[in-house]
Amino acid sequence: MTNYLSLKDRYADYFRIGAAVNQETILTEEELLKQHFNSLTAENEMKFEHLQPKEGIFTFEKADQMASFAKENQIEMRGHTLVWHNQTPQWVFEGNKGSLLTRQQLLNRMESHIKTVMTHFKDPFYTWDVVNEAVEDRGSQLLRSSPWSTIIGDDFIDHAFYFAKEARPDVKLYYNDYNESSPVKREKIYQLVKSLVERDVPIDGIGLQCHWSLDTPAIDDIRQAIERYASLGLSLEITEMDVSVFEFENHRTDLTQATKEMLDKQAARYDQIFSLFREYHQHIDTVTFWGVSDRYTWLNDFPVENRKNWPFIFDEKGQAKESFKKIMTFK
Ligand code: XIL
Repeated sequence: MTNYLSLKDRYADYFRIGAAVNQETILTEEELLKQHFNSLTAENEMKFEHLQPKEGIFTFEKADQMASFAKENQIEMRGHTLVWHNQTPQWVFEGNKGSLLTRQQLLNRMESHIKTVMTHFKDPFYTWDVVNEAVEDRGSQLLRSSPWSTIIGDDFIDHAFYFAKEARPDVKLYYNDYNESSPVKREKIYQLVKSLVERDVPIDGIGLQCHWSLDTPAIDDIRQAIERYASLGLSLEITEMDVSVFEFENHRTDLTQATKEMLDKQAARYDQIFSLFREYHQHIDTVTFWGVSDRYTWLNDFPVENRKNWPFIFDEKGQAKESFKKIMTFK
């Protein structure tokens, strides 16, 4: 058997291997990034509040540094994210002197943000998450209510994709969401995207965030999600994968190391998940982890503050975990 040293080389015939980075991890994880990854996402630096904190004032410096690093190292980038209800400054939804913003005014702000950002970041971007997390998790309501949907109406999604297409007809335009494998939400995401496709709204793909745990979601639910989304004829990306060693509602914060039992289970889980991804590689363009190594993860503070987590395939020293070995080993 060939001895592969690099994850991106091992998966060259399957999909890109991506990582989310921030200002710190792009430095601390530099060697791992260069060796194993050929796609990069900014964890926060390309969100609305970072790029346009005040109306018309665009702050691109931090994001530009990431794009330069990626370019220098032949790494491509996915843009994240243009229209979202979180990490978007309040001014976006406010009128002058406390007056209510009209639908047309918010559409103008949306258009200006999308076009300015997408034309600024050219090379090496291949995908943008145009709309993030618009679907409601619970009940029968399809879309969550947000300032975007309240002020513009549910067709804010259509407009976001049209503006993005006008700005960059050459990159792939994605709808991205979490709980993407849960039976109720995956059906809603499917219905939303199906209606976009049927109305010829220019969408190219669905991003599956994949914030998962050791036991959930069930592998069969993941398979059904991939099949259902792929049946729309769009491409898919795994956009924010991590495998938490805790279930979402577990509140224990006493652990300073992952237990052996957790790590064994995590390795088996990564093995199973990546074999599923390989099975569907014709539909999957990129598999992105929401971080690089266990030295840093947003899960250290989410959804439970100060609950240290170990969700990745590299440990706190940047060494390969059993999970890494498992996903590197296949025929
Ligand atoms: C998270 C970041 O990792 C955190 O640092 C930040 O405080 C909040 O956002 N869905 C998304 C990502 O699309 O942008 C989120 O990233 C995680 C959930």
